[in-house]
Amino acid sequence: MSKVKLGAVPLVYPIPIVLVGASVDGKPNFTEVGDCAVMGIKPALVTISLSASHHTTKGIDETGVFSINIPSTNMLSLADYCGIVSGRNVDKGTLFTTFLGDQTAAPLIQECPVGLECRVLEVVQVKHRRLFIAEVVECYVSSQFVESANGKETVPHLSKLDPIIYALDNRYYRIGDAIGTGYQEGMSHKES
Ligand SMILES: Cc1cc2nc3c(=O)[nH]c(=O)nc-3n(C[C@H](O)[C@H](O)[C@H](O)COP(=O)(O)O)c2cc1C
Repeated sequence: MSKVKLGAVPLVYPIPIVLVGASVDGKPNFTEVGDCAVMGIKPALVTISLSASHHTTKGIDETGVFSINIPSTNMLSLADYCGIVSGRNVDKGTLFTTFLGDQTAAPLIQECPVGLECRVLEVVQVKHRRLFIAEVVECYVSSQFVESANGKETVPHLSKLDPIIYALDNRYYRIGDAIGTGYQEGMSHKES
């Protein structure tokens, strides 16, 4: 198969869209972020990459905490708006119903089905970017999405959460169907 070189494009996909929340000068502010990744499950580690000039970045630097809120597709225009305007000029805290995390007082969004309360562990400055590596200290899930198995609450099905997916073609997408189970689909290739 022939390949075409596109140059230095970080074409890793899909990109999850999240709203990062921080308290800036004592007020909640939210910004749209695609550069968010899981760095480990136990311990629960995440990273976000923010431009050093963002209003949100100032708040995280000031407080050492932030939230990651995962909007559903019905919040698309509000999420995109949070990626267009800065909290320096617009009060984005009034766009949502907010609540404070129990452990860090980071501002979270009630309307988002999933919210993660995060405490910064390390900050790495790379060119004009600040990479915040953080531990997740609590995970808030809207009750209508919580499932239970054997009397224990479990992580909700992704398709029910209906997250917004972004890609480097500058388009938003919605998630598709589940097609298999982790640590099981590959078993058929194991030699018996
Ligand atoms: C689809 C999309 C994805 C974005 N992802 C990021 C990102 O990963 N990191 C970042 O620093 N800015 C990202 N931005 C830009 C910020 O959301 C935008 O500059 C915002 O206005 C900053 O707000 P603030 O100054 O209130 O923090 C993204 C914007 C859009 C529309």
